Amino acid sequence: MKPTKKLIIAVDGPAAAGKGTLAKSLAQVLGLPYLDTGLLYRAVARRVIDQGANPHDDATVFAESLETDDLERNDLRQPEVDQAASLVARQPGVRAALLERQRHFGRLGGAVIDGRDIGTVVFPDADMKFFITASPGVRAQRRYRQRYGHDCDDETVLQKEVRAITERDQQDASRDVAPLKPAIDAVMIKTDHLTAADVLHKTLDVLRERGLLGS
Ligand code: C5P
Repeated sequence: MKPTKKLIIAVDGPAAAGKGTLAKSLAQVLGLPYLDTGLLYRAVARRVIDQGANPHDDATVFAESLETDDLERNDLRQPEVDQAASLVARQPGVRAALLERQRHFGRLGGAVIDGRDIGTVVFPDADMKFFITASPGVRAQRRYRQRYGHDCDDETVLQKEVRAITERDQQDASRDVAPLKPAIDAVMIKTDHLTAADVLHKTLDVLRERGLLGS
């Protein structure tokens, strides 16, 4: 399936809503590069933690000196990084340092980019914007499955995951710079009762309806 031009597709939404899964498959089907912008904030947070620094303190210097190797580490998805990433992501200096990097990536040849502020700040003129959501309970279960490879049947553990996710969303949505929120022209998709394949087909239908896909 070929896009009619080098599309920029923004996929935003809260934690563990299925943005990454969708963005990756869309990129693959459409032959576009994929960027997970959460990894940038995670990599900054990882460096902060490794240096024994406080994630509440200004981490701009870590963001400015981020290298490709930092993004390829396999310890960027640990729970302590989730929380620290959300704290460094509140900082205007960190966001400014990462902004041009994201824009440069998209402008090279179009891209599917997932994050929190892609449709509102990074690419306000994106060809297409999706905002993916799901209820906290569903997201907590998905996050658990991603981490451990099976469903969580312990309600206490699940509730702890719900609290962590809700706290992070609240932090992301209430910050002054580039808060988590849908762009005014985003297509909203709630994924509670949808499979990953359903969501992919839904988004492809929208792209087709808007004339953004060739036959
Ligand atoms: O998407 P992921 O959960 O990997 O993102 C980690 C954290 O990075 C988020 O909680 C959010 O604080 C931050 N983030 C952001 N803007 C983005 C992507 C991620 O603030 N575009």
